[in-house]
Amino acid sequence: MRTILIIGSTGVIGQKLVEQYKEENCIEISRSLKTEQNQFYLDLSNFQSILDFLNAFQSISVDLVFVNSGLVCEERITRDGLDTMWMVNAFGPYYLVKHFLKDHPKCKIILTSSVSILHAKLDFNPKNYNRMYRNTKLLEHILFRSLEEIYPESIIAYAHPGVVPSKLSLSLHQKPIQFWMQHFGNSKENAVEILSSAEHMHSKDCWVCPKGIFQLRGKAVLKKIKRNLELDLKTKETIEKTEKELERKYGISCDGL
Ligand SMILES: NC(=O)c1ccc[n+]([C@@H]2O[C@H](COP(=O)([O-])OP(=O)(O)OC[C@H]3O[C@@H](n4cnc5c(N)ncnc54)[C@H](OP(=O)(O)O)[C@@H]3O)[C@@H](O)[C@H]2O)c1
Repeated sequence: MRTILIIGSTGVIGQKLVEQYKEENCIEISRSLKTEQNQFYLDLSNFQSILDFLNAFQSISVDLVFVNSGLVCEERITRDGLDTMWMVNAFGPYYLVKHFLKDHPKCKIILTSSVSILHAKLDFNPKNYNRMYRNTKLLEHILFRSLEEIYPESIIAYAHPGVVPSKLSLSLHQKPIQFWMQHFGNSKENAVEILSSAEHMHSKDCWVCPKGIFQLRGKAVLKKIKRNLELDLKTKETIEKTEKELERKYGISCDGL
């Protein structure tokens, strides 16, 4: 039986993923769970919580991780003085997976990405939280791609689940689009089918998404990611500086993780 971690297991897509993998040793991970059997509390906006996760799973054999968390919120700052959406949607998952792969080099990672990054920029001071969502999802995708260079043997797959009505997706749109999403959007079953199919992707550069319009846009997304793979200097420096500052503050060294 495989051990599968589902980060963001309490959301609309996450709950369905848990159902899909119920025959396996599936561990639910989210902010609104307590650490109990087959459940683990993780708050990606809290660096200490990320470290606790890494310690807890360090010596457990894991076969597959779904990074399926995401957050949209009005301006808010984490206890470490960072932007919450930047932390939860980009830096937190990146830092977690970067250190997780060190102990689990053969574990497959599936990131729930989004075609919305087609219209995103690496700007973390945008006018509204809708743009911040897209921009942080773009950064997340690019940072995960950079992990493939650090761990050339790693298998990281990316998937867009379609447009599925959820707390997160509905909060990004006005009423008419919400109505459209609720009546004509993708089902959570369809989203899980897409995410699970990413399990069988073995080539780099893979991107799974629903057929039709998303496939066309998916190709454009891949092109965009390739173009942006080299982060601009400012973004790169911010990531490196944040890593060092947090590690110093929490009294850890990379080697000690
Ligand atoms: N729905 C769509 O149309 C769509 C389209 C493209 C991509 N996506 C992506 O799909 C993924 C799942 O989204 P969803 O639509 O299922 O949204 P959702 O129902 O709102 O679920 C979001 C999940 O993220 C978790 N989460 C939020 N903040 C967290 C934090 N600080 N620490 C740990 N976990 C946190 C939530 O857990 P708690 O409630 O416990 O905090 C929840 O399990 C996201 O990555 C999203 O970007 C969704």
